[in-house]
Amino acid sequence: MLDKAPVLIYGMSGGFFMSDLSTRYMGLSLKNPVIAASSQLTSNIENLAACEEAGAGAVVLKSLFEEQILSDSGKIMANLDPLVHAEAYDYSTVMSQEYYLDRYLKLVQDAKKTLSIPVIASLNCVTAGKWIDYAVDFEKMGADALELNVFIIPVDFKKDSLSIEQIYLDIAKKIKSKVKIPVAMKIGPHFSALAHMMKNLAGEGINALVLFNRFYKPDIDIESLAVKAAKITSQPDEISLPLQWISLISGELSCDLSATTGIHGADGLIKVLLAGAKAGQLCSILLMKGIGYIKTILSELSDWMERHEYAAVSDFTGILCQENIINPEAYERTQYIKALVGIS
Ligand SMILES: Cc1cc2nc3c(=O)[nH]c(=O)nc-3n(C[C@H](O)[C@H](O)[C@H](O)COP(=O)(O)O)c2cc1C
Repeated sequence: MLDKAPVLIYGMSGGFFMSDLSTRYMGLSLKNPVIAASSQLTSNIENLAACEEAGAGAVVLKSLFEEQILSDSGKIMANLDPLVHAEAYDYSTVMSQEYYLDRYLKLVQDAKKTLSIPVIASLNCVTAGKWIDYAVDFEKMGADALELNVFIIPVDFKKDSLSIEQIYLDIAKKIKSKVKIPVAMKIGPHFSALAHMMKNLAGEGINALVLFNRFYKPDIDIESLAVKAAKITSQPDEISLPLQWISLISGELSCDLSATTGIHGADGLIKVLLAGAKAGQLCSILLMKGIGYIKTILSELSDWMERHEYAAVSDFTGILCQENIINPEAYERTQYIKALVGIS
């Protein structure tokens, strides 16, 4: 049964009707498609309760790093390149494995006790190693689902693309053999055959793909001649990459999709839903405007549905994916050529 969140709407054609914001994402029933993405905003119970209070459909907890689970992680965390792992910034202290793992398991447990919306635990990993055994504990603590943030930096000259892709597939296969709860994988766009890769991940049983992870971008200060961090938050125009790929593949992939990167308001959320995502994940906008901004986004989503006379989110999800539009090449190269050289 879907956990419905009906809103009474007066339609343009006259009369009231109920708008149903609910969505099904990776087998979970969400009362609406707004997910609070993994970040420090979802790392403590007060913030998580605030997400629910503001109306979020689900929360993804702050990631636990594979390195934190596997070892005396302080040293490893200190050695992680902060120019790549923005997420690692939140872990500045040097602590033991038990500290991180126990603290995380308690967060999952407390979140489940406190919240009624689905709680998605998150792991940041780079191998199909022993950490997977510990992921079972998240399930035991009641996590409704698991999101794996996988990013292998392809800087090793000895590793070809196939061997790197195989690591993602091994992780997917192994985790699916260990846990019964749904598993999402948050990936970046940097695969040479992205559609093929996503199809293979779905083939390993991954229940949802989160498109796309936003990597931390380094910058160079030309006065101090130092490498520095570029802006940690996204810009709204960064939505175009996930939007394009969700539109291209949502009609053909066997798993669900959620969008992350660049959703800064109801318009961004509506776009990714039209393209075929089942939910949108918000981070930067909540860091900038506060968790309460979820309420505004939901209200604007309802207003838009009223104007377009959609009674349910499912009525318009995916209607503008590539498969369903009259001009399917709009998402592909043809449009680009037209724009640049005017060939019609
Ligand atoms: C400060 C910060 C910390 C983050 N920590 C995590 C994390 O622990 N795990 C994760 O999967 N993503 C993490 N992210 C990425 C966000 O979940 C999100 O995918 C990304 O910021 C793009 O969405 P946005 O455009 O709404 O910010 C973090 C992002 C920021 C800015």
